[in-house]
Amino acid sequence: TGSESHIFFVFGASGDLAKKKIYPTLWWLYRDGFIPEGTHFIGYARSQITTEKIFENAAKYMKVKDNERDLYEKFVKLNSYVAGSYDKDEDFKHLTNEANQISNQESAHRLFYLALPPSVYGSVSELISKHCRPKSPGWMRLIVEKPFGKDLESSNKLSEHLNKFYTEEEIYRIDHYLGKEMVQNIIVLRFSNQILSRVWNRDSIAAVNIIFKEDIGTQGRGGYFDEFGIIRDVIQNHLMQILSIVAMEKPRSTKGEDIRDEKVKVLRCIAPIKPEDVVIGQYTGDKNSKDPERQQGYLDDKGVPKDSTTPTFAQVVIFINNERWAGVPFILRAGKALNEKKAEIRIQFRSTPGGMFDDDNHGSDPNGKLARDELVIRVQPNEAIYLKLNTKRPGEMGFSIEETELDLTYGNRYKGVKLPDAYERLILDVFMGSKINFVRSDELEQAWRIVDPILEEIDKKKIPVIPYTFGSNGLNEAFDAARKHGYIFRG
Ligand code: BG6
Repeated sequence: TGSESHIFFVFGASGDLAKKKIYPTLWWLYRDGFIPEGTHFIGYARSQITTEKIFENAAKYMKVKDNERDLYEKFVKLNSYVAGSYDKDEDFKHLTNEANQISNQESAHRLFYLALPPSVYGSVSELISKHCRPKSPGWMRLIVEKPFGKDLESSNKLSEHLNKFYTEEEIYRIDHYLGKEMVQNIIVLRFSNQILSRVWNRDSIAAVNIIFKEDIGTQGRGGYFDEFGIIRDVIQNHLMQILSIVAMEKPRSTKGEDIRDEKVKVLRCIAPIKPEDVVIGQYTGDKNSKDPERQQGYLDDKGVPKDSTTPTFAQVVIFINNERWAGVPFILRAGKALNEKKAEIRIQFRSTPGGMFDDDNHGSDPNGKLARDELVIRVQPNEAIYLKLNTKRPGEMGFSIEETELDLTYGNRYKGVKLPDAYERLILDVFMGSKINFVRSDELEQAWRIVDPILEEIDKKKIPVIPYTFGSNGLNEAFDAARKHGYIFRG
């Protein structure tokens, strides 16, 4: 029946996110046959432009292959564009009339992607609900992206506003880290392997490190970034989401609500971060670099005020006050303009007790100590799971011990398997109505509660911002703090 067709609306269709992520993602999903038959796409924004222009701008992100040209043309034909304001009733009525005509029915399911600045979220969400809902039995789903406010209070306000117009069921809050293969894999790894579930607690684990590094600066996004800083940009959302999955209790089932219940429960066991558990930094240009980008410090970004103290690097230490985790530091570290792009989770196990090997040669440890076992889940690049273990150095006499790796690097083990982009999975999830990989309002509130007090301290400039050079590995002050909490760096 006709009621099974869909309309996907892209709000902010002329903007950056739409061009770089949303339109390319829709095309890849279409190309791979995931978009339901009969779906139309409608872009909406203030600019008086055309569908052709939108696709022209997005062309270099689409990666269309020569043999896909015909299919691509078919996809482009399913797209329309409507120009209008973000705050006038008549424009949204007009949009809905257009949509009815395009899909030739009023009950097609409607998905709305808000790729918009937060300043217009309020009016747009209200007017969509008022004027653009499909007729029954069609459903509607609203996809929203961070920033969800700037702190606990503004985030709660936004939630209240959305709750006036939508049920929680209808709202899909994107955190694109939840669409990444290795983040989704944590749940399987933890709960389908007895060998891991037995040791996944304070008795065996000494520390957990969750690390996000980028080798680029703000790249002209300084205007946006300066208002938020690295804690709001990456830690409050992406790293806190990873933490909740690493630390949660076993969900009752794989249902979205069961999983999200456990994530919220563990977040509720975390006290707000204390200022003494925070190290923050801001990058300066590397005068010796040959790369012009690396010569630019954060304060050289055009959008950034010259006296800005916004952190581009932060490390926070979090404790979970429950039976499984009491006393285990979760060290979350994130920085821009570092030496590499990498995201990984390092689970470091306690030192092996007993001195049996004390007199032997531990070549890989500068202090001659037996290395700790460590499980590493590398989210990106080059997805991998590896377990660092001690083995006998091959071929040598006696007990010469070497630290080595049980290595599951996906590129080697799963040759030729294509891992979809995070946005592909997430948008497909919305079509299918799966909520597992979206942030529920109570999760969001908990994540804000945990960082809220330190954000206030930082905004009031009460925490010193330590400079670091573009391209460095991180702040020594942060590494020292991690060491103080018992994490052992190696190599
Ligand atoms: C975004 C942040 O949420 O994540 C950016 O706003 C950051 O500052 C990006 O660069 C990183 O995403 P990914 O998928 O490249 O690790």
